[in-house]
Amino acid sequence: MPKIHLLPLDVVIDAADDATVMGAAQALGYYWPTTCGGEGRCTTCACDVIDGAQLLSEMGRSERNSLVDERGEGVLRTAVRLACQARIRGDAGSDAIVTVRKPGVRPPV
Ligand code: FES
Repeated sequence: MPKIHLLPLDVVIDAADDATVMGAAQALGYYWPTTCGGEGRCTTCACDVIDGAQLLSEMGRSERNSLVDERGEGVLRTAVRLACQARIRGDAGSDAIVTVRKPGVRPPV
């Protein structure tokens, strides 16, 4: 099963193939900041992809539009992705690890 290394919490979680980064964390009880509930509109969920970006789905038009609308064109030159839209690729492999940084993510209570 692919894994996601969450910073700054510094925990590694399992992610089902094709899960979004946010969805994988939420499935395990983690709190992930969001105001639109994962619809790709608010950009509150945005995270920095530190490593393994190639293991994530390509950025789609709606993700791109939301990021540019909220943060400007410059965001496209950064490693920022919407955690509710970026999916672990189905062909990522069971030992794949994607590392993302998202302050505000909290572990299950
Ligand atoms: S949760 Fe709103 S854009 Fe991802």
